[in-house]
Amino acid sequence: MALPDSFLDELVARNDIVDVVSDYVSLTKRSGNNLFGLCPFHSEKTPSFSVSSEKQIYHCFGCGKGGGVINFIMEIENLPFMDAVSFLAKRAGMQVPDNDTPETVRNRRARLLELNRDAAKFFYSNFKKPWGQPAIEYLNKRQISFEMVKRFGLGVAPNEWNSLTDEMLKKGYTQSELVDGGLSKRGRNGGLYDTFRNRLIFPVIDVRGSVIGFSGRILDDGEPKYLNSPDTPVFQKSRNLFGLNLAKRTKRGMLILVEGNVDVVSLHQAGFDCAVASLGTALTPEQARLMSRYTQNVVICYDNDGAGQKAAQRAIGIFEKTGITVKVLRISDAKDPDEYIKKFGGERFSLLLEKSENHVEYRLLSLKSKYNLENDDERIEFLHEATEMLATLPSAIERDIYGAKVAEYAGVSKEAVALEVRRNIRKSIATQKKKQEKRDMSPHLTVQPADKSIRYENVQSAVAEEGVIRILMRDPEFVNQVSLSEEDFTSPFLGKVYGIIRQRFLEGDSVSSAVVTAQLKPEEASQLTLILQRPISTSNVERELSDYINRINDEKLKASSGGDLLAARERLLRKKGLGD
Ligand code: GTP
Ligand code: MN
Repeated sequence: MALPDSFLDELVARNDIVDVVSDYVSLTKRSGNNLFGLCPFHSEKTPSFSVSSEKQIYHCFGCGKGGGVINFIMEIENLPFMDAVSFLAKRAGMQVPDNDTPETVRNRRARLLELNRDAAKFFYSNFKKPWGQPAIEYLNKRQISFEMVKRFGLGVAPNEWNSLTDEMLKKGYTQSELVDGGLSKRGRNGGLYDTFRNRLIFPVIDVRGSVIGFSGRILDDGEPKYLNSPDTPVFQKSRNLFGLNLAKRTKRGMLILVEGNVDVVSLHQAGFDCAVASLGTALTPEQARLMSRYTQNVVICYDNDGAGQKAAQRAIGIFEKTGITVKVLRISDAKDPDEYIKKFGGERFSLLLEKSENHVEYRLLSLKSKYNLENDDERIEFLHEATEMLATLPSAIERDIYGAKVAEYAGVSKEAVALEVRRNIRKSIATQKKKQEKRDMSPHLTVQPADKSIRYENVQSAVAEEGVIRILMRDPEFVNQVSLSEEDFTSPFLGKVYGIIRQRFLEGDSVSSAVVTAQLKPEEASQLTLILQRPISTSNVERELSDYINRINDEKLKASSGGDLLAARERLLRKKGLGD
């Protein structure tokens, strides 16, 4: 990280976490020193998202996310560290210090974005070249107009090994920039070759208008059909959507989610300028959240095959968590929206769009088609599944209306269905309560970090290590009383935090949680935030600290002596000349 600590300290000081969070979340409840609101990172009905003005951190007791003000902006604005810093600097009217060494992260990202833009221009320019001819023919075959080429910035990767690589090297980009940007690959002889060859190129453009990656469709029937840029410092497939740069401006008040890039282009061409596609992956929660910034209404229009319908079911679940209203448009007599529009035209598609089923109807109909309702056993199974699904609906009116439908499908009384739904609701409340009780009763379960990559191997020691961290974060002066080294921590994560605190304190920098968490990975920042929530026994901090240190040393001895603590302690005392 190339930014001076003093700058970060000031940045954090000038962006009070309560103010910053309040731009996104209404903090309506106060409890003790904390403010509470509805968590912006998961869906909930009662506020479990807390912000501490004293500690300058946020923490969600529901989903476990947490950190300082920089983490918050990274998470909610979907920005990398440096961009989050710029964002907050701008907010506070500060100037980010210029760093003229070319290797800074920011410059590196800016260079990659420039490279992508130049690559997109190159791909586009190939349409006018003799080797662009196969792509023109392909566009004609797929009935994609040149207006769409311009609107989406489509391009051609010729059927050659080095055309883009050579051109970009000539422009002054380095080999490693080309590889880092995913545009070139290194061959066995060490030379570079183009990642995208013989493909129609779809640039992926983010909502700020930057070309962040590419998706290329093969022009003949070679394999693989699509090739996407790998994840790079500027491109994360799971956090972006193809077409959103255009669709975000739609006046239709909704977004249509389709599977294929070609579907997106085809829909825009037919006037449905609200179509987007996830980038060849199943829809992710990040993508759903991104969409929720632009609309509350999404229509899923996936391919008309088993895989497509299954993917739609999964996507519904993801959208529900963001509070988006989802509908599903099912096409028939065509395999995907692109083919549908080519066959039947945009007007027919409009009609389908109007008739698209809300997700409850959609799920009920899917469920119904799974069972033969003439058969008693299958009918009972259908009723089981359907009433379980109805029990998850938050609105009593919806439960009533769809309950009546289920009753009709299965040929039973409305009352019987309603009774069963109520039973299912009670059952799920009871299980949730039990789960919560179990969590409250067993501290060890809650001690383990939610993220597997930082789980504690020695919980006894880790609890004490957490205690040390908690005290040092509050009173860094105690560092001088802690004779531990990073390696004495059994948890590498806690050792790392200890190292950061120690170094910052010894160098005279502030040890605020916002600055420390900003140096951690998101899962680490969340766990640290959680640790800081737990109370310190304020009556005697020094005693508490020395208890923790003793425990850490004991655990270390135990581990090194194969568990025979007494013997180990005796050895230690003898060595120090204190024994007997
Ligand atoms: P057409 O068959 O030309 O109409 O393409 P399409 O855009 O409709 O794509 P399709 O429905 O076959 O696939 C949907 C999306 O899945 C594509 O847009 C790609 O993002 C992704 N995809 C399809 N095939 C591949 C593949 O072979 N590799 C990868 N990485 N992604 C793929
Ligand atoms: Mn298709």
